[in-house]
Amino acid sequence: MSILFDSDNRTFTIHTDNSTYQMQIDKYGYLIHLYYGRKSTGCMDWLLLFADRGLSAAPYDAGTDRTYSLDYLPQEFPVQGTGDHRSPALVIRDGEGTYGIDLRYVRHRITRGKYALKGLPAVYSEADTDDAETLRITMRNDRTGLEVVLLYGVLPHLDIITRAAVLVNTGTEQITVCKLQSACLDFVSGKFDLITFHGRHTLERQPERRPLAHGELNIGSRRGASSHQFNPMLILADHETSETSGRCWSMQFVYSGGFKAEAGLDQYNQTRIQMGLAEEKFAYPLMPGKSLTAPEVIMSFSDTGLETLTHNLHSCIREHVCRGKYRDAVRPLLLNSWEASYFDFTGESIVGLAKQAKDLGIEMLVLDDGWFGDRNDDFRALGDWQANEKKLGCTLGELIRKVNDAGVKFGIWVEPEMINEDSDLYRAHPDWAMVIPGEKPVRGRNQLVLDFSRAEVVDYIYNAICEVLDQGNIEYMKWDYNRSIADVYSHTAEDQGKVMYDYILGLYDMLERLVQRYPDLLIEGCSGGGGRFDAGMLYYTPQIWCSDNSDAIDRLTIQYGTSFGYPASSVGAHVSACPNHQTGRITPLKTRGIVAMSGTFGYELDPAKMSDEEKSEVRSQIAMFHEYAELVQSGTYYRLTDPQRDQACAWEFVSADRDEALVCAVIMQNHGNNPTQYIRPRGLTSGAVYEDSRTGRKYAADALMDMGFPLPLPAGDAEGYLFHLLRV
Ligand code: GLA
Repeated sequence: MSILFDSDNRTFTIHTDNSTYQMQIDKYGYLIHLYYGRKSTGCMDWLLLFADRGLSAAPYDAGTDRTYSLDYLPQEFPVQGTGDHRSPALVIRDGEGTYGIDLRYVRHRITRGKYALKGLPAVYSEADTDDAETLRITMRNDRTGLEVVLLYGVLPHLDIITRAAVLVNTGTEQITVCKLQSACLDFVSGKFDLITFHGRHTLERQPERRPLAHGELNIGSRRGASSHQFNPMLILADHETSETSGRCWSMQFVYSGGFKAEAGLDQYNQTRIQMGLAEEKFAYPLMPGKSLTAPEVIMSFSDTGLETLTHNLHSCIREHVCRGKYRDAVRPLLLNSWEASYFDFTGESIVGLAKQAKDLGIEMLVLDDGWFGDRNDDFRALGDWQANEKKLGCTLGELIRKVNDAGVKFGIWVEPEMINEDSDLYRAHPDWAMVIPGEKPVRGRNQLVLDFSRAEVVDYIYNAICEVLDQGNIEYMKWDYNRSIADVYSHTAEDQGKVMYDYILGLYDMLERLVQRYPDLLIEGCSGGGGRFDAGMLYYTPQIWCSDNSDAIDRLTIQYGTSFGYPASSVGAHVSACPNHQTGRITPLKTRGIVAMSGTFGYELDPAKMSDEEKSEVRSQIAMFHEYAELVQSGTYYRLTDPQRDQACAWEFVSADRDEALVCAVIMQNHGNNPTQYIRPRGLTSGAVYEDSRTGRKYAADALMDMGFPLPLPAGDAEGYLFHLLRV
């Protein structure tokens, strides 16, 4: 068993192969967090030091004992109103308008297998093989009748512990949930750095590491989506922790809406980190008999550096979040029409692209934005999911057949959650758009957001998208989402404070229905590139367009940052034309290929504009892709340099048996008389000899890992290198 309850000292201990998590029900029924770190045994309540702390209040039960205060004790699920003045995980308002709440332990249950969450994505377990278990601890407040079921899941062999919470109103009055965090971690000792992943449209997930100081540092998204600006992922690490050594802990949200993560030191230098729902525009009315779920947070711990943490998270996402036919399969190599022709195409030109794709060895043609309604620009037609037969020169079904006849699969772009004011759908149902009555709408990319908190809206769009998918042999769909939610209003909601959360439930409901109805369909998530790149979406869409920035050099840091929490199999990456459409940069085709091949590979350009030489280079690139795709999809990922600091960006995929490795490197900027860049691979078998499959050169693994390959001196900026190593 991984989850143990010791009734003598009332501790819950969760063991994974390399970590231990422990909490204790104390003498008053509060749930005290004791420990999360290296594997350990025994009751660790010796970590607590009780002392009389000035201005720290004690609960009534403590009587005259002034050494007991929740203001400094580490807790599992701190609430507002018990004397803990740090940031709480839960704030509620009861029927009287009162804010305080006091939760005490009532019961618990330990079961085999990993819990699931109703209507929300969550890590899943394969019943018999992964030894997953679940702990449910019920906390209760008698005055309001609020019960909070704290959920803990464990995948012991991946060093993964998940947390979520279900709030149940067993009372007779409405309770309003004003703040809800899914997981809180208190550390009584330690001095930490916080690593977060910030960004913007076309430059997502840039890692930023800073020492934590006193006060509460908040990151998050108030945009209704997990956002370009901050990814719902954070890492806490000892100051000295590196890729290969030291302690680190992570939190990753399995949710695609707004979020809030907090971290900081309290007055006694103790650290608290939390992650959960965004507070803004959230005040959820919980009626008697109803429940509300705090979405899941995936946690992991490593004492062998960030690399191990990443490996744990990659395995968790690949094998316990992503689902379906494509979970473990190499994804189809595609040509996307967006940067090839934007809105400017005809059915004939699309079939032309398909033929070009076939000629190059590409397996699928994706028809991006512009195929429906009268959408020839981004001012109109979102919501009108009928093909523009005039523009295509045929029906969608006929176009699909023609593309298939050209020898490639067919994929299509949709943006189901959006509506343009200039659309038939808006003219028929203006109230389906989220606009605050009496105000003018806030437009983003000229579009409004459909009210997905309403079941009838989701049903309508679901049927409309099914009708599209039923037009023919559509094997891939890109699900886009191109603005933030600003003016939150639902015409049918009894309370506007629930709309943002219910919106995400509506989104997941539709995605789940699609996944069930079209099990063979590959869905790629997208939100202006990587604005909704999160573990929640990956439950439905095993890959996500990583960024609208297809520039290979910018992609290095974007993909580097993304790699901390998400595997290469989830990272949509394409080779595009030069000068690059986002940055104007010119990068060698070889480098563009190396960078894009480290994700779900594809092209996003017009092959007709390429020279014969370039085409033949693309053909060999594609042959190389097939050779390495399996290794990239399922291999163990290593970050070999830090592109924010080093001149070269290098990374590596190693097969599970360590017989094969692919080392990729790009020297980002060349300089006069450039020093030699040595790239040190990791994860090879010590004592073994590896041969470079292209040059036949042999390398002793230990020397290679110690000193590294010398990269040839670059002839210009952005030169790329690949080393494919096979164990001799
Ligand atoms: C978003 C996507 C792009 C493309 C356009 C189409 O920006 O991220 O890849 O699909 O929309 O409008």
